[in-house]
Amino acid sequence: MKKHFLFIAVLAFHLCIHGQVKVENLLCENVINPIGIDITKPLMSWSLLSDKRGTSQTAYEIMVSNDMDSFDVKKLVWTTKKIFSSQSVHVPYLGATLQSGTKYFWKVRVWDNFGRVSPWSVTSYWQMGLTNKEDWKAKWIQIAFEEDSVNRPSPIFRKEFTITKKIKSATAFITSHGLYEGAINGKKIGDAFFTPGWSSYNKRLQYQSYDVTSLIKSGGNAIGVTLGNGWYRGPVGWIGNKNIYGKELGLLFQLQIEYSDGTKSFVTSDGSWKSTIGSIRSSDIYNGETIDARKEKVGWLQYGYGDSDWFGVNVKEFDNSILVASYKELPKRKESFKPLKISRTPKNELIVDFGQNLVGFVQLRISGSAGDSIIISHAEVLDKAGNFYTDNLRKAKQQNIFVLKGNGIETFEPHFTYQGFRYVRIDNYQGDLKPEDITAYALYADLEQTGSFNCSNPLLNQLQHNIQWGQKGNYLSVPTDCPQRDERLGWTGDAQVFFRTGAFNMHSYNFFSDWLKDLAADQTENGSVPHTIPNPFIIGENNDGSGSAGWSDASTIIPWDMYLFYGNKRILEEQYSSMKAWVDFITSKSKNYLWVNGWHFGDWLSYIPENDWQEKGARTDKQLIAQCFYAHSAELLAKTAQTLNKIDDFKMYSDLSAEIKKAYLNEYVTGNTRLISNTQTAYVLALHFDMLPESMRPKIIERLVQNIYDYNDHLTTGFLGTPYLCHVLSRFGHTDLAYKLLLQTDYPSWLYQVKAGATTIWERWDGQKPDGSFQDIGMNSFNHYAYGAIGDWMYRIVAGLNPNDANPGYKEIIIKPQFGGGLTSADASLLTFYGRVRSAWKIEGDKINMTVEIPCNTTASVFVPATTASLITESGKSILKSKDIVVKNEDGKVVELELGSGKYVFTASMKQD
Ligand code: BGC
Repeated sequence: MKKHFLFIAVLAFHLCIHGQVKVENLLCENVINPIGIDITKPLMSWSLLSDKRGTSQTAYEIMVSNDMDSFDVKKLVWTTKKIFSSQSVHVPYLGATLQSGTKYFWKVRVWDNFGRVSPWSVTSYWQMGLTNKEDWKAKWIQIAFEEDSVNRPSPIFRKEFTITKKIKSATAFITSHGLYEGAINGKKIGDAFFTPGWSSYNKRLQYQSYDVTSLIKSGGNAIGVTLGNGWYRGPVGWIGNKNIYGKELGLLFQLQIEYSDGTKSFVTSDGSWKSTIGSIRSSDIYNGETIDARKEKVGWLQYGYGDSDWFGVNVKEFDNSILVASYKELPKRKESFKPLKISRTPKNELIVDFGQNLVGFVQLRISGSAGDSIIISHAEVLDKAGNFYTDNLRKAKQQNIFVLKGNGIETFEPHFTYQGFRYVRIDNYQGDLKPEDITAYALYADLEQTGSFNCSNPLLNQLQHNIQWGQKGNYLSVPTDCPQRDERLGWTGDAQVFFRTGAFNMHSYNFFSDWLKDLAADQTENGSVPHTIPNPFIIGENNDGSGSAGWSDASTIIPWDMYLFYGNKRILEEQYSSMKAWVDFITSKSKNYLWVNGWHFGDWLSYIPENDWQEKGARTDKQLIAQCFYAHSAELLAKTAQTLNKIDDFKMYSDLSAEIKKAYLNEYVTGNTRLISNTQTAYVLALHFDMLPESMRPKIIERLVQNIYDYNDHLTTGFLGTPYLCHVLSRFGHTDLAYKLLLQTDYPSWLYQVKAGATTIWERWDGQKPDGSFQDIGMNSFNHYAYGAIGDWMYRIVAGLNPNDANPGYKEIIIKPQFGGGLTSADASLLTFYGRVRSAWKIEGDKINMTVEIPCNTTASVFVPATTASLITESGKSILKSKDIVVKNEDGKVVELELGSGKYVFTASMKQD
């Protein structure tokens, strides 16, 4: 889904004049015009645009051709003819077998419920990747010189070729062991960073496909590629393990050129390439990069450069059957930041404050003498004295060193490293640093920003900002816990708790479907799921490093959430055996349906005061937690089986989850409905996962409310309880208390950090204490999205924007805001596959205005607060007179309406008669 707002506005204007239905936003595998697809039945989606309310699709027709200029019947690869169906998302291609490397063009038209037919859409395309390993003509190449094994500088590779005929198109397919950055004739190939991306390299190695037609010229051309150590062989994990996936860097490069005369040629990596080292003298994800400009091979990216003193390359064999096309959005250069302030600390350090904790790097434009070595260090915070503070980075140096050539202004930025920072310290710079000399760039995966939330409380808006920046910084190549210390790993628990919020903010399907494939690939033989994916650690015989409740359950929770959010069953099909293996693993470790043999993180980082002599610390029994997640995972697996029509499994896992709940009841709940842990998390999990018979729930909610009261209306939950806490309160009629928790401004609370000046979400409720001191350096990240999971509640409850689980993917929408917390307005929107959904409300006196926008081809249930439908108007007229609005239900407090697509502005009186 891409940003076409101006286009939409123009189109909308056009539609008003012509009264048509139109098709727009054509996606193949969730991407506009993707290059490099290796799926045999790619899925196509589109959305409708109409000037009439209540527009839905009744039929569609798709045509696919391999000729851009002709959809002539003879040229068609596939046509559906007119299909009577309302399906407009995830429609599978079911035509002839798609050919490797080939580009396919497609368009679609639709019929609607008003009997109108749309014009044909614009022509879109997808291009197949290399679908068979035999299609790889390129050979893996490595350096053919002795490497400096301490610094492991970046090798560079080059190759020249000549073009004598007119080119129609050129596609480059590239991957590497380590990270690569390629260029043709000095221009970077693509605009992504950290390619080929992190994956479980020895099981799934991604390659990227690029349209490089515009980079190639007739006559002489030059290809240049630089490799970096990255995750492949650089240190990963706090233990500092190196060479996790292999010791040697390597490149696989295939350029496919198609000429206007219909012929083809290839330029591929092979024994004829040259290699040496250039200006990148060391590079490392955690520690940073050293660039010595004096060592640059000037002109090496251009044709005609003399490389006779370079070394050759070694050709090596590797198994190309593990190569997979890359679908997920790759990290790109995004926002840029100029200094908010350049100053000296009390320790006389030269520091720059960029005003935002971000993930990326700093670009420096400076001049000096040859050999000057400028050191840039990065930090998230200053200490209470105002000095540069890096203790919380643990062993990660986060330091880039730029060595000047001394020939005027030089521009530096790193290539194969990234830093998490708000502040940088500059050492060894003799000049006078000016704002124009330095820029910070945020880098993050180029997921479409789909959600927006704001309301009348500025602190909550800052919280939303912090959540979004936490997400940006930690959705780089895979979802990570943090982006700065010697960790930056794909922690499953963190990804799981944040997924729902993240899916509101950004279109997360491809990013997560890829990561889940790594999860399945790294699952142990007996089905246990490692705590970090891709897993850089060795899982021991006792499954250490895998199998924790709430972490490994990412394997069941995320696919199911993805299905609800995006309505694509394929994620369930793809992950089914992984989900099942995980639940079966727990069963194999259980006795009489009790999961008691395992090691768990528990409710990680829950509230525990220092010197806990009053026993206020909220410690929830870890096995009780595990039992809840076991039941939940079994239940999600049962639902998945049902969705996929696996009737036997549905029955088996439904029975299993019932048994797990029974065992829970016997083991952890007393006759008087007490839980063995009197903590918010224990109550929240019991209620959210429906662990108890209905008759017991009122007692448990009462205990939860009492517990919150005992903590002066503060939360005490850690990673596992926090995402569900406010949801449970709302579900059981205590939204007022949920608002209270959300709006607290002292520790522990979400707004404590906001008030303390945070610009991202902290790992700890008290990362920095009121006196300015810090939490334990062992675990104190200032950019950790887990507690940002409250964003899901803000979208769903404050703004009231929800998918209907009975018809997932926003085909049916529920708009049901719950007001409170003194807020006078909220406005949220979400770009779905069908188009933008919006829910906005504003309280003025005793009146409420609700604006909802519902995309074509969907329906919505909208809940308006009013004692009766006759008190509600829409755009000034009684809703009872509107043919577009059906009153479904009135309970004396809220009126439920059913709507089709369109924009509606409701006004209702909130006065209780
Ligand atoms: C990470 C977490 C992670 C945890 C496991 C930490 O070091 O930063 O966010 O989930 O370990 O408990």
